[in-house]
Amino acid sequence: MYVNNSAERGNFGSRLGVILASAGSAVGLGNIWRFPTEVGNNGGAAFILVYLCFVFLLAMPVMLAEFVIGRGSKANTVGAYRTLAPGKPWIVAGFMGVLGGILVLSFYSVVAGWTLHYTVESFANRLTAGQDFGAVFNDFVTNPWKPIIFQFIFLLMTHFVVSRGVERGIEQFSKVMMPVLLIIIVLLMCFSLNMPGASEGLRFLLRPDFSKVTTGVVLSAMGQAFFSLSVGLGCLATYASYFKKDMPLVSSAFNVCLLDSLVAILSGFIIFPAVFSVPGMAPDAGPGLVYITLPHVFNEAFASVPVLGYLFSGMFYILLLLAALTSTISMHEIATAFIHENYHLSRRSAAVLVTLICMLLGAACSLSFGPWSEVKIWNRGFFDLFDFLTAKFLMPLGGILITMFVEWYLDRKFVVEQLTNGGTLRVRGLSILLFLIRWVAPIGVGIVFLNEIAN
Ligand code: PHE
Repeated sequence: MYVNNSAERGNFGSRLGVILASAGSAVGLGNIWRFPTEVGNNGGAAFILVYLCFVFLLAMPVMLAEFVIGRGSKANTVGAYRTLAPGKPWIVAGFMGVLGGILVLSFYSVVAGWTLHYTVESFANRLTAGQDFGAVFNDFVTNPWKPIIFQFIFLLMTHFVVSRGVERGIEQFSKVMMPVLLIIIVLLMCFSLNMPGASEGLRFLLRPDFSKVTTGVVLSAMGQAFFSLSVGLGCLATYASYFKKDMPLVSSAFNVCLLDSLVAILSGFIIFPAVFSVPGMAPDAGPGLVYITLPHVFNEAFASVPVLGYLFSGMFYILLLLAALTSTISMHEIATAFIHENYHLSRRSAAVLVTLICMLLGAACSLSFGPWSEVKIWNRGFFDLFDFLTAKFLMPLGGILITMFVEWYLDRKFVVEQLTNGGTLRVRGLSILLFLIRWVAPIGVGIVFLNEIAN
């Protein structure tokens, strides 16, 4: 049979494992690197409120729809559409997801590679005061081979976890790493909130100025919600295909959204109090916030006790690294599960193939910061192109197709059965959820999508 949904297929062993693995996919550079950058660029507290609305009104319905598709079919993203809608064009959404997973992993691993480099530099105590961190960052990312080496090491780390399989690899890893991550975040936040001048940062995060909410801000908030929750590519559908029968889908989706938002907001509480405590640092420093501004902040803020600055910075980059790893695993898994189940390759060989493809494409993304900065397709270097194609094109389009598939194509009874585990669970607000999946998500996301395309 085409779909391998028998007992030999991997399964997550425990409920906690499921939530932590899914939250591990969601929590990543998107929360700790991209979220603060977006908050900084879009004016602070008001952006956060808009973002939270989108998480629960648009992105959570897509996540639920992915859970229904994944667990309802017990197959990889492409196999899922083949099982649930044989011979129908919906399968395109599955292929888009596999392509999207590979493209995201290719450019995301560039930033993950930078993070690995900064982790090493930080522990080697080389991010010390008196340097021009902007120039240091620039020198590194434009170098033709150094960033690629770190990117490849990172891809191999991802490969190692994925090829170990679902329960022994992904679940075990997430179960250990997610709690470690939360502990590090809380510790860092305590440090940060105790810095002199931290209150300025708190004001930026907590006092909304609604005059700053423009359409651009609204669109950014929506894009951020999608990227941060990993929805639209079938990544969470793939994970859901490993869920057991008694896994409650609605509360799991809700918990993952809650945890992801919590980590994003706590990251804001780490970064902004620290940024505001150093005179001359701006909250809207862009993507460099984490690699240029923060090393400076660590040095300045702990000038009298450098050892604390050393610890603070080391912990921060390790945190970023672990968060990135639990996300890249899920991107890798979309394509690995597809190749493994579709082409009857062993899981290991499928994973090798995916890693090699991502190394090739990923190196092109890395080079687009240096020697290939002049190579442009549709006016974009490889990194920007892949970022655009996934976050602004495949993910929203996937979100629309996924929710429409579940609410307009699938049998209502089947969907309700999945959401209530065959009627054994009472789900409060079920009709509201179905309404969100049917109308609010596809239309809301459609608006972002059209706007992105128009720009
Ligand atoms: N959600 C991840 C993050 O916040 C990124 C991601 C995108 C993961 C797409 C999987 C699929 O970093």
